[in-house]
Amino acid sequence: MWLLNIAIAYCVLLPAARCFEMNMTQYYEMPQLYDFDDYDRCLQEYGAGTYCFVRAEVQPNSTAAAWRAIQEISKYDRHHFDHRQLYFGLCLHKCEAQLAELDANARQKLQTGLLTDNAKVNVYLQLFNMEASNRARYNNLTNACLNWRLQQRQYEVQARSVVEYCDTAATAGKVSDEDDLWNVSFYVLVFVLILLACLSSLIDLHLKRRRHDKMLKERDHYKTPPRSLVTRLLLTCSIARNWYRLNQEPNGKIGRELRFLDCFKFFAMFLVIFAHTNWVIYESAISNPQDPERLLHTAAGTLLISGSLITVTFFVISGLLLTINWLAVTRALADDKLGTWSFGKYAALFVKFNVFRYIRLTVPYGFVVLLSGVYFENAGGPLWRHIYQREQLACRKNWWTNLLFINNYVGTDERCLLQGWYLASDTQSFALSLVVLMLGHRFSRWSKQIYGIVLGIFMVLPAVLTYVMDYYPVFLPTPQTQKDSFIGNTQFTEFYTSFQMNFGSYFCGVLAAIAYDQLSVRQYKLRELRSFQFMWFTLIPIGVLWLFTAHPIYQHYYAETPRLWGALYATVQRNLWGFGLGIFVVGMAAKVGWIIRKFACLPIFRILGRLTYGAFIVHLLVARVALATVREPIYFGTGTMFAYIFYVLCASFGFPCFGYIFGVTRLVMS
Ligand SMILES: *[C@@H]1O[C@H](CO)[C@@H](O)[C@H](O)[C@H]1NC(C)=O
Ligand SMILES: *[C@@H]1O[C@H](CO)[C@@H](O)[C@H](O)[C@H]1NC(C)=O
Ligand SMILES: *[C@@H]1O[C@H](CO)[C@@H](O)[C@H](O)[C@H]1NC(C)=O
Repeated sequence: MWLLNIAIAYCVLLPAARCFEMNMTQYYEMPQLYDFDDYDRCLQEYGAGTYCFVRAEVQPNSTAAAWRAIQEISKYDRHHFDHRQLYFGLCLHKCEAQLAELDANARQKLQTGLLTDNAKVNVYLQLFNMEASNRARYNNLTNACLNWRLQQRQYEVQARSVVEYCDTAATAGKVSDEDDLWNVSFYVLVFVLILLACLSSLIDLHLKRRRHDKMLKERDHYKTPPRSLVTRLLLTCSIARNWYRLNQEPNGKIGRELRFLDCFKFFAMFLVIFAHTNWVIYESAISNPQDPERLLHTAAGTLLISGSLITVTFFVISGLLLTINWLAVTRALADDKLGTWSFGKYAALFVKFNVFRYIRLTVPYGFVVLLSGVYFENAGGPLWRHIYQREQLACRKNWWTNLLFINNYVGTDERCLLQGWYLASDTQSFALSLVVLMLGHRFSRWSKQIYGIVLGIFMVLPAVLTYVMDYYPVFLPTPQTQKDSFIGNTQFTEFYTSFQMNFGSYFCGVLAAIAYDQLSVRQYKLRELRSFQFMWFTLIPIGVLWLFTAHPIYQHYYAETPRLWGALYATVQRNLWGFGLGIFVVGMAAKVGWIIRKFACLPIFRILGRLTYGAFIVHLLVARVALATVREPIYFGTGTMFAYIFYVLCASFGFPCFGYIFGVTRLVMS
């Protein structure tokens, strides 16, 4: 339940965040991060109004107070936004009116230049390259306009700028090629799915009628799996059957003993949604950036930064389930005949494991990738294309990297479904773990050494890489990184999402499963061991304290962490967390945990756990749809935040529920 602590600590500490003294007099000397004209008025008042979203970068001027304030405040770049980067939403009609009074000379003075050398902005410009003509037409006007406004507000600084895109009344919220191939394939697919669901359900109903068995209750028919493969395929999309399947009890001893994993999955998912909803809020516009910035200086800020450890939970669970499956398969096959297996047999098993996993993951994933690229009528807004269409375009361009599960290495600046990096990293870990397990099986006499060496390598590797590549010791989702949607952030692409940095935790899950298996084979009663019980319960406070170990590193403003210690911490932070989690899971599987275990085994988590994968792949889309329509910077406070989080949580779990019933999503990790 330490997972919940983060959330609680956050709520308690949010109002109490007062320790870093931000000089607010100075803060308001800076130009605001966001300046949006009224979008709807602009497009509706003037028949042919044009509204441009413009990115600007303040230029240095050492004598201006605004520039000094920007430097002073942006220097805390782990905690604060980069206040040089401004967003403008400009109504061109208004701009022209404002500049009309100026003579040519004064107007020329306002031209500060084109923003061409900002790599992050260029990624957007590249994606929105259909806006090239608007850019050529309006770059000068918008630059003069925004500099005029900066001057009017007496900031004494000027900014270079570039138009990201422009909307007119005719194009706002609409896309010209609304019925292109991509959209049509989506509609066809949805139609086919509905058709299949109807057919399947009717066949199922027919089978039930035909049975005429008075002894069987109505639902027993739906609960018994069909005998032949053909009927099973025919009934895949049967709505009633899938409904019962969603709520099905786990079967077998292992399924019952590991039931609590569903609860873990759900809570980890909740925290992921929590963090990602905040991220999408950062990506849109905030009227009080000083509050989240100030918050990051507190202990709650450290918790938020360390919160990235949550993903380790998924890696551990994933490694655990793979190994349990593998052990079950080897046991089942070992009964046939003794002796060593041929290479061909291993190869066949390897292919089989990967293909089944691929199909299970990719069917729902592919559906969401397809959905992400669909153009539809929308409410628009100055930020809509910046937040939502960016992903539509990226998905249309890079969908194949997602489906090949290489998106954590390829096309990392134009990511389709950003959270998909996890699936890629998990897939790569899956394949390698399977190879290691096979080696351990083939050379069973050396299995301990093999596992030891692999674990050793991947425990040390992150430290070496961090040292050599000079990474920062923890993954830092800073406000500016999140606002830039992690584009061009090596800490994210190389340190956080890459396979080599995560495999250690995955392998902790593998080892946990082996330990669990050995314990149950020997019928060892871990529960009766007092010392283990004690250790298990102390893991909970240790886990909470562990999150705070990043505090000295993260909150130490001026001194660099010594590189060697940083490298050590980088590997220890995640791998020990994974290791501890492994022990925690093994303990709970051995029925340690008293009331915590009872809670984790509640039947509600069975359903939620099954929907977790679906929620995972869809939650960012859901968050974006809502947040991309903002017209004005929103106030970032506890209430607003939880309102959004609650909506994203409900919608992301509701969506896969439909998918499940229609037979799109399948049990993923078990
Ligand atoms: C805050 O900033 C203002 C303007 O830069 C400065 O005059 C004032 O002395 C600062 N206050 C503190 C407490 O540093
Ligand atoms: C720089 O700042 C000074 C004084 O604050 C101001 O007079 C000058 O116009 C500024 N320069 C630019 C290019 O804005
Ligand atoms: C924009 O301004 C630049 C420099 O002031 C000038 O060279 C260019 O011709 C202008 N472009 C347009 C379309 O007016």
